[in-house]
Amino acid sequence: MNIIIRDTYEEMSKYAAEVIASMIREKPDCVLGLATGSTPVGAYRELARMHREEGLDFSRVRTFNLDEYLGVGPDMTMPYEMDQSYGRFMYEEFFKHVNIKKENIFLPDGMAEDPDEFCRAYEEQINKVGGIDLQLLGIGCDGHWAFNEPGSSLASRTRVEALTKQTLDDNYESFYKKAGIARDQMPHYAITMGVGTILEARNILMMANGKKKATVIAKALEGPVTSQITASAIQLFSGGITVVLDREASSELKNTEHYMHRENLNNAFHPSY
Ligand code: PGA
Repeated sequence: MNIIIRDTYEEMSKYAAEVIASMIREKPDCVLGLATGSTPVGAYRELARMHREEGLDFSRVRTFNLDEYLGVGPDMTMPYEMDQSYGRFMYEEFFKHVNIKKENIFLPDGMAEDPDEFCRAYEEQINKVGGIDLQLLGIGCDGHWAFNEPGSSLASRTRVEALTKQTLDDNYESFYKKAGIARDQMPHYAITMGVGTILEARNILMMANGKKKATVIAKALEGPVTSQITASAIQLFSGGITVVLDREASSELKNTEHYMHRENLNNAFHPSY
């Protein structure tokens, strides 16, 4: 596991964007797994800058998003700050700023008539394009990856999952309150890629920032593997792993010195591992 620690959110975001850009340069038709939330916004902005100023080309890139609220879909007639859909978030924060093709964007459909059938077909679609080359992930305060809440099987597939009270509280504070949407109007279910689905990607790029993620990051990276912290499944991942943290999110890790030493060694010798 490459665990990279940077002093600030901006530096962390630049590092993460560079990992994604390297994948695109190496494999222009790569398949990216994408995440929503406040964590990746800085990386998306940096990728948009790279597209604008350096010509980073998204024209052949395919993307699959991790999750979407059930019963919710993008509504372009609504002001962005009122639209709770993750599809709208992706459009506003990323897709509209780069030259990605509409037909190459795959999003879980929260309005699907038959959500279970949709989830099955979503998995099939991922397989059809040859699997995910690089999966971007955040981590929830309850340790979730996407909406794989505590107690989700570490072999789970794309499915409908009930949100925990903690996730509802976090999302209320970060979005619904500002949008003036009442707590009891919040969606209680979501479509989410499963932990098992995520573990089939070829590479993982996980990001976390801020003091409020410090405890859960230490549990996920250095604690026992447990379905109570689904992001701890990263310890079972067999592909390439990069975890990028800001200083605050790394503050409860025990082995920081080793992670920094490892990064310095890698910088000096450029090994292929
Ligand atoms: P955040 O959410 O980026 O808004 O902190 C992360 C997550 O819940 O996975």
